[in-house]
Amino acid sequence: HVIKNVNLETVCGITSKLPENTLPEVAFAGKSNVGKSSLINGLMNRKSYARTSQQPGKTQTINFYNINEEIYFVDLPGYGYAKVSEAVKAKWGTMIERYLHTSNQLRLVFLLIDIRHEPSANDKHMYRWIVEQGFNPVIIATKLDKLKRSQVQKHVKQIRVGLDVTEGTPIIPFSAVSKQGRDEIWDLIEQYALN
Ligand code: GTP
Ligand code: MG
Repeated sequence: HVIKNVNLETVCGITSKLPENTLPEVAFAGKSNVGKSSLINGLMNRKSYARTSQQPGKTQTINFYNINEEIYFVDLPGYGYAKVSEAVKAKWGTMIERYLHTSNQLRLVFLLIDIRHEPSANDKHMYRWIVEQGFNPVIIATKLDKLKRSQVQKHVKQIRVGLDVTEGTPIIPFSAVSKQGRDEIWDLIEQYALN
C-alpha cells in the first residue's frame, strides 16, 4: 500500500468528545507496551511518527491518524499498565469501551498479543469484549523477531488456544524490526476496511 501522507489529526483524552469521522477506521488494541504504536509506524512507513517507548503507558490518549485522506488508524492506550491508579485504569477502560461501542466508522479491530507470552486475563477479557461488540478481531502476534523461528508456530497456537478464538480468526505474526507481516496486515485492511 502506498503511503502518500499521514497526519495525527485528533487526540482524545479521558474527557474528550470522540470525533465523528466520515472515513473508515481501524483500531489497534492491546496491553501496554505490546507494540501498538510501533505497528502503526510500520504500516505507515514512518520510523517514529507515532510515539513509542520502552516504558509502558506511553500512549495515554486515543490518537486518530489520517492516512492518505483514505482511512484512520486509531491508536488506543494500552490496558494493564500497573503503574496507574485503579481509578485511572477504570476511566481508560471506559474510554476504550466507549470508542469501540460508539464509533460508526470502525471497520476492523486488531488485538495485539506479545508472541512470547500466553494471553493474560486482561487479553482474554478484551478479546471477549470486542467479540461481544460484534467485531471479529484480527490477532497480531507482536515482537516476532524476539522468537526463534522454530518456536513461532507453537506460540501462535498458544495464543489461538489461550484466547479461544473464533474459527477462521487470522493470527498474524509481526515484527516492527523486520516488518515481517506488514503486507499481510495491509491486505486485510484493504479487504475489510477499504472496500
Ligand atoms: P503503550 O503506548 O504504552 O500502550 O505501548 P504500545 O503498545 O504502543 O508499544 P510501543 O509501540 O510503544 O512499543 C513498546 C516497546 O516495544 C518499544 O520499546 C518498542 O521499540 C518495542 N517494540 C515494539 N514492537 C516491537 C517488535 O516488533 N520487535 C521488537 N524487538 N521490539 C518492539
Ligand atoms: Mg503506544
